[in-house]
Amino acid sequence: MQPSLALQDDQEHLPTLLATDAQELSYQLQQHQAKVFPPQSQKTMRMFAPAEAAAFIGIGEGYLRQIAAEGHGPDPLANGRRLYTAEDMDKIRKVLDERNGTPKYVPSRRGSEKLQVISVMNFKGGSGKTTTAAHLAQYLALRGYRVLAVDLDPQASLSALFGHQPELDVGDGETLYGAIRYEAPRPISEIVRSTYTPNLHLIPGNLELMEFEHETPRAMAAGKAETMFFARIGETLTEIESFYDVVVIDCPPQLGFLTMSALCAATSMLITVHPQMLDVMSMSQFLTMTSELMSVVEKAGGRTSYDWMRYLITRFEPNDGPQSQMTGFMKAIFGNRMLTNAMVKSTAVADAGVTKQTLYEVERAQFTRGTYDRALDSLNLVNGEIEAHIRMTWGRK
Ligand SMILES: Nc1ncnc2c1ncn2[C@@H]1O[C@H](COP(=O)(O)OP(=O)(O)O)[C@@H](O)[C@H]1O
Ligand SMILES: [Mg+2]
Repeated sequence: MQPSLALQDDQEHLPTLLATDAQELSYQLQQHQAKVFPPQSQKTMRMFAPAEAAAFIGIGEGYLRQIAAEGHGPDPLANGRRLYTAEDMDKIRKVLDERNGTPKYVPSRRGSEKLQVISVMNFKGGSGKTTTAAHLAQYLALRGYRVLAVDLDPQASLSALFGHQPELDVGDGETLYGAIRYEAPRPISEIVRSTYTPNLHLIPGNLELMEFEHETPRAMAAGKAETMFFARIGETLTEIESFYDVVVIDCPPQLGFLTMSALCAATSMLITVHPQMLDVMSMSQFLTMTSELMSVVEKAGGRTSYDWMRYLITRFEPNDGPQSQMTGFMKAIFGNRMLTNAMVKSTAVADAGVTKQTLYEVERAQFTRGTYDRALDSLNLVNGEIEAHIRMTWGRK
């Protein structure tokens, strides 16, 4: 008798087989990516025109011109125009605060304002988690907050977007796994990296994050985890708490131990959803499973209270009837738990993503002006709304 395929497979433990296949696929895809889009050795943040710089600093353009003319900004170019770097914006914030004698333009938290940890989640891949997390983290950094972005997805697209190639630039123990593993965890401060965006630090991801999914059941069975899996991310973050105002966590597209731990570390939750029937149905399952798992974690003593949670509509096409219907449907159910602003679908976001850049990095001249501006407006509205939630949590206006 010919041995059947099924019999051959039987000799392997199916979950292990699938995990190996997944790992191999993921690895090969990344190798392919690296070949097609070779890593840029030096990424940079672009310069900002006066209107944009003024908006990031939080003052009028006229006032910015005045301060720059007083010698606190960049020198004018040959054509008389001034372009601002992110560093220039930080410098001007400090000048303004010194002048006023009160901290206002440097927005760092003070007094009893507590660290905000925002987990971006949904187990549907392609729902816009990474795009949302990357742009939110960068926006907040450009606004002057001290931000830590954590890539918790073994696929590590956030890290790649921020110029850290998961297979080339990230070694053993250099992801968050290094700080939350059960054997010889490292201090998280050794793992944090700076980026080319001032105020923005990164904990990159790569495939080793998956070890946490494998090791957690073993550690629990052996009773050797002093800190339960769901408390490990929150606990390691407390070591570096004072250095940051906001932590943004890009979660993997599954509800595993990593995601559960990110959920428990979070002070707020952002659930991204593309407004199409299949996506919304899958989100419904995600919500059910999350709620069940959270009850279990709660009973085991995990923290599951939040300052806020919001649904964010992503890749929204306003002229698409079914999408508008689906959005209306969700608004009716979720009410004010949905962000007022949606992230519109734009070729500018997609194209920038292909070259591993964000909208804040690409040059506007690369795109049709209207296309770029519409995308950026939508993005700034979404990010501004989230920023308002952060400030409200701190009791600020
Ligand atoms: N607003 C948008 N407009 C156009 N393309 C987008 C937009 N948001 C995300 N994308 C693209 O959709 C794909 C999936 O988005 P991503 O953020 O990686 O989702 P996830 O992290 O949930 O898997 C990416 O190729 C990304 O460039
Ligand atoms: Mg992602």
